[in-house]
Order: sequence, then structure tokens, then C-alpha cells
Amino acid sequence: MKSKEFEVPFRRFGEWMALAEEKEPGLANAVSMATVDEQGRPSLRMVLLKGWDETGFVFYTNLGSRKSRDLEGNNRVALLLYWKSLNRQIRIEGPVSLVDDQEADDYFKSRPREARIGAWASRQSEVLDGWFKLEKAVAKYAAKFGIGEIPRPDFWSGYRLKPEAIEFWSQGKFRLHKRELFTATPDNRWRVETLYP
Ligand SMILES: Cc1cc2nc3c(=O)[nH]c(=O)nc-3n(C[C@H](O)[C@H](O)[C@H](O)COP(=O)(O)O)c2cc1C
Repeated sequence: MKSKEFEVPFRRFGEWMALAEEKEPGLANAVSMATVDEQGRPSLRMVLLKGWDETGFVFYTNLGSRKSRDLEGNNRVALLLYWKSLNRQIRIEGPVSLVDDQEADDYFKSRPREARIGAWASRQSEVLDGWFKLEKAVAKYAAKFGIGEIPRPDFWSGYRLKPEAIEFWSQGKFRLHKRELFTATPDNRWRVETLYP
């Protein structure tokens, strides 16, 4: 049973995200996502955060991509959001697991038709031997599905990060920035600490 106070960082996250959606030009939900491979080599890329609540933070991708290969060997992820318009940063860390099929299907259905065809056509992170090959694959799947339903490819799904730590950073005067670190405890509460800037 999660305590009431377990909601605190999620509520704060929602408030900051709502403000960013209002103020930030461009994509407020664009987030840097770090993985490490089995040799411990880090890599970073942007993804779009498509869901967040007490169960975690959700993003979608191709399961054959480099990031997904990393996650098969080590499912620990770090996420970073930075909004220039607000001068605020949020860091999130924890393990990820695949979302269930129904959730992935529902999100896939909500995407524009072209993006669903693109998901079928892209072998994300593999070497593309000429742009024409991708155009051909797009045309092939567009013809295959016609005007009918486009199912979610089994190599495309979402991950949910279950946060173990969430840090809120906001700019202060004279570099005396505010940092508040929430660390999940085994009894479903958060330890809250202020860190030196
Ligand atoms: C703003 C932005 C949002 C992106 N969102 C996603 C996303 O939600 N899912 C995804 O797979 N790639 C997304 N990408 C592309 C990734 O950054 C990356 O190029 C791709 O996922 C391949 O990464 P990988 O080779 O490390 O797996 C996005 C890129 C940008 C710049």
C-alpha cells in the first residue's frame, strides 16, 4: 500500500510539467535518456515522455534499437529533463520494465497513421543502406495495410521506469540553486533531502 506522501514527487513533477507545457517553446516532454551497455559504456538519446504517474515514467521505442539492446543487459536508466524557459531540471533514476501489451497497443493506436507505418518500416539503430530502402519499406507497409487497421509491431513497445530517485533542481540567485532529492524507501515512502548546489 503506497502512503499518501508517496505521491508528493509525482504531484510536483506534474506541476512542473504543466508549467513547462505552457512556457517551453517546443516539446516540454522531451527527455534525455541514458543507458549503459554490458561493458558499462554509457549512451544518451532523447525520447518523448508519454506517461507519468505513481506507477512510473513511460516512453516508447523500437525493441531492436541500441537503447533496447542496452536495456536487455542492464535495465537501469537515468532520465533528464531541462526546461530553458523555466531554468529547471529534473533527474530521474531507476529500473525499467516493458509496459503490458494492452497499454502499448492503446498508445500505438493513438499515433498518426504515418507514424504507425514508420514504426513498421524502421529497423531503428541498424545501418540504413541508402535512404531509398527506407522509402521502399514505408511504401511496402502502406500498401500492405491499405486503409485497414495497423497493428502494433511486436518489435515496438514501451518501457516504464519505476523511479528510485527523483531530483528537482531550480535555479537560485548567485548559483545557490535549490536541489531536492526524493529517494524511494522499501516501505513505499520517500526520503527527502536537500543537496548542496
Ligand atoms: C526530441 C526528440 C524526441 C525523440 N523521441 C523518441 C522516442 O520517443 N522514441 C524513440 O525511440 N526515439 C526518439 N527519438 C530519437 C532518439 O533520440 C534516437 O535517435 C533513437 O531512439 C535511436 O536511439 P538508440 O540508437 O540509442 O536506440 C527522439 C529524438 C528527439 C530529438
